Amino acid sequence: MKHIPVLLSAVLDALGDISGKHIVDCTFGAGGYTRAFLERGAAVTAFDRDPNVLVDVEKFKTEFGDRFNFIPKPFSNLAEISGPFDAIVFDLGISSMQIDIPERGFSFRADAPLDMRMSEQGTTAAQLIAESDVNDLANILREYGDVRKATILARAMKDTLPQTTFELRDLIHNPKDIAPVFQALRIAVNDEMGEVRSALEAVPDLLNAGGKCICVTFHSLEDRIVKNTFRNWTTVPGDPRLPTVGTAPFVAIKMALPTQQELDENPRARSAHMRGVIKSY
Ligand SMILES: C[S@@+](CC[C@H](N)C(=O)[O-])C[C@H]1O[C@@H](n2cnc3c(N)ncnc32)[C@H](O)[C@@H]1O
Repeated sequence: MKHIPVLLSAVLDALGDISGKHIVDCTFGAGGYTRAFLERGAAVTAFDRDPNVLVDVEKFKTEFGDRFNFIPKPFSNLAEISGPFDAIVFDLGISSMQIDIPERGFSFRADAPLDMRMSEQGTTAAQLIAESDVNDLANILREYGDVRKATILARAMKDTLPQTTFELRDLIHNPKDIAPVFQALRIAVNDEMGEVRSALEAVPDLLNAGGKCICVTFHSLEDRIVKNTFRNWTTVPGDPRLPTVGTAPFVAIKMALPTQQELDENPRARSAHMRGVIKSY
């Protein structure tokens, strides 16, 4: 299935006039956001750690020339690039292409090796299960998937060491837990929360005054990391109980959720939240 960008019009509204601006798209994916930025006259530096996006990257280079620059690395490397930029944008989670290629092991609807690595490097989901102890596995299931009876399932996983998506799926007794278990392992395999935390740390120093950071999240924990980080940035330095003097380093942009029409057209938008901030000085 073609990847339909989620909350793109809300992101474009939040960014305003971007002609002549330089934007970092931390999650290139199918290039839906990047294309919209380039077509509105911005220059884009994009990250993606999935080597499968490189075919599209080449097409973008041909079409947009040196207004488009691509970095084939995890976005936790953000601090390594030199700014300043006018906006830094994240559209987190996985793309429809990643789910749709059975061999990548993200989907429980097709039988395939239990892989789940966005970058196709490092530890696979099957190896993660083999290398973790029951407690660590149960924590992953609980924290990233809200899975009930996580310890029982973690023990079953350790006993059988599933190597394929169907072997894992068949261990899960409650069908309602299947998607959350797959999601939890995917988040752990790709260190998705750690990636967001490190990248956000680099953002303030990379933005111009008036520059914006926009994040679209799909998981409550990821959304909490973004919400809390933005709350810290939009708080006036000093004791928050005192009358506020001075200016917070960032100002919040109104949060956006998908409209009913977007939800009808794109079920993947279901849990999406867009949050943003503008750098004050
Ligand atoms: C939801 S898709 C982005 C879709 C894109 N906005 C579009 O409109 O086509 C997320 C993309 O981010 C990439 N990604 C996720 N986490 C990443 C990370 N930590 N570093 C680099 N790329 C990452 C994934 O490989 C995937 O291609």
